[in-house]
Parts: sequence; C-alpha cells; structure tokens
Amino acid sequence: MKTYFIDEQQQLPLVIEPDGDKSAQGLKDYISKNQKELVDKMYKHGAILFRGFDINSPKLFEEISALIDPNLKNDYLGTSPRDKVAGTDYVFSASELPGFYPIPQHCEMSYMKNKPIKLFFYCNVEPEYGGETPVCNFRKVYNELDSEVKSEFEKRGVKLIRNYSAPGKRSKFNLWELKSWTDIFHTTDKEEVEKQFRKYQVDFAWKDKGDLCLTHINDAVVEHPVTKEKVWFNHTQVFNIDAAPIEYEFIHQRQKRMKTLMMKLFLNVATNLKKRGTPPEEQSMNMLFADGTGIPERYIRNIEETIWKNMVIFPWKKNDLLAIDNLGTSHGRLPYEGKRQIMVCWSEE
Ligand SMILES: [Fe+2]
Repeated sequence: MKTYFIDEQQQLPLVIEPDGDKSAQGLKDYISKNQKELVDKMYKHGAILFRGFDINSPKLFEEISALIDPNLKNDYLGTSPRDKVAGTDYVFSASELPGFYPIPQHCEMSYMKNKPIKLFFYCNVEPEYGGETPVCNFRKVYNELDSEVKSEFEKRGVKLIRNYSAPGKRSKFNLWELKSWTDIFHTTDKEEVEKQFRKYQVDFAWKDKGDLCLTHINDAVVEHPVTKEKVWFNHTQVFNIDAAPIEYEFIHQRQKRMKTLMMKLFLNVATNLKKRGTPPEEQSMNMLFADGTGIPERYIRNIEETIWKNMVIFPWKKNDLLAIDNLGTSHGRLPYEGKRQIMVCWSEE
C-alpha cells in the first residue's frame, strides 16, 4: 500500500492507496491483517482515507467499516435528518440537509451519552461543486483556543437545547428547525421516543400543543480515552445562535460565490431578528453554558477562527472511505451544488 498525508502540516488524514491490487477483497484482507495497527494510526492522526479501491457499493462500505470496528450501531438520536440506505443494516445518508446549509465542524453526537467511537464516510456520488467533508484535529483546537475561552468552557460546561415542533406545526420559514420531532425520530409514538430518551439519558419535556424540548448538559472538554490528550468536545459553534453568520463568513471567504455572499448577509439579519424575537432557551437550537447563561459572541468567533485555521479541506473521489476517530477529530460539510451522495455509518462502545 502507498501512504501519505493529504495535509502534511496537519498530518491529516492519512491516505492509504493500493499500489497493485485495488479490489475490495484485497483491502478487506489488508485490514484484517493490520486492524490493530490501523486503529492505532487512526488515534494518532485522527483519520484514515482509503482511496482508489473498488469499494463500489454501500454494502461493501459497511463490510469494510465493520472490519475496522465490528461494533457498528444504528440507533440515531442526533440532530441531522438522515435516511437509512437500502440493502444495508447500518448505513445512512450522511445528511438530508439542503446543499446550501453549512454543517460546521463537530465530533458526532458529542452531546449524547452513547456517542460514536469511530465514524465512517463513503463517497457514492462525487459532489459536482463543493460538498467537501473537511476534518479538524480537535485536540489541536483545544490547545490553540484563547486561554480565557478555554478556561471558561472547562469550568462551566455546556447545555444544548433542542426544541422540536409537533407534527404539522413547523413553520416553513424557520431555517433553524427543519423537521418536527416525528420526522426526526421516525415515529409518531410519544412513548416510543420517551423510551429512547430514557435509554440514552436525554432530558426531555413536552410543551404546549405537543412540542418537544430536549436538553443535554455536558463537559465542553474531555480527555481522549486512548491518547489521554484533552479534546475540544462540544457543539457550541454548530448550534449557538450566533454561530451560523460567522460560519458563513468563513464559507464565503473560501467559495466566493454570489450565493454565499447572499447567505452571509441574510444570516446576519435573520439571526438578529431571531435573537430579538425569541428567548435563548426557546430557540429551535441553541448552545449555552451549562448554567443557562449565554456564550459571548467573541468566544464563538475565537472558536470558529481556531477551527478554520486547522481544518483540512479536500475533494471527495468516488469510492473514498474516510474513517475518523470521533473522539479526537471533527468533521463537517461545506455547501454544495448539484449531485452529491455521501453515506455514513458509525461504531459505539
Ligand atoms: Fe456529523
């Protein structure tokens, strides 16, 4: 096999390419023989990109991922609308969010007790424009954050708030809430979702007219269970109300399109209006300090700057398989145009 880094300076991701046999079976044999060493490399560098192999179906993607980590799971209580891929047990569409939506960097389901240990992405259809899945070393982000930001978050922890409408009540114009709780959790049965929330220790409260509020309180920084390094491990700059306009500033700096300029301007105005009209804890999504107090906008900006400085952005190629150590390395999605089909599966403890 040939190995190199997409980004030499960040040493991320480590690329493994065939130098002869590029069959899926050849890759399976290689992983079976070198599983432990590959997992050690994932922990060290944060992600491995298997590129140039004939992984030409979601089923093969699932089988190869299971060789790296056999504990694949398919219970999903996250925030992104996802559909299960037919013919597989554990593969989902990575996100059904529209292409212009930014998905800022995050460690998957950092706010859940049952968070994924490893994440696997697969490129079934290359994006026509944009649509990269950048990765970022969140251990480095922790080290490079402003010391005040770091210590405030470490001391205070974070609280994620998710407010979902009852079925049929969601406003089409609310860009922050894309689905009602029945759509996001794929059931109309309140008892069924409550059972899931209890199982995974999610605090929930039913509101007026069948709306649902979920809260998650967590440490903002955790120790990596294997490498013992400290990791920035929270969704602050994904869900805090001030984050989207700042994220789009960076996206526009990169993509420089009329559309990204319009989105950046629109998000500035829309966010201000939304903040004025709705208290912080009633926003569709919001991230506060654990005691319920707001996070200063300059903290969000410092987090965004540190992440964008360390992010590694690279185009997808068909049949790419990207394996990520979710406990130390984040991922996200840049806006895209046209076709794109990226799939995901994950493992838990
Ligand atoms: Fe994600």
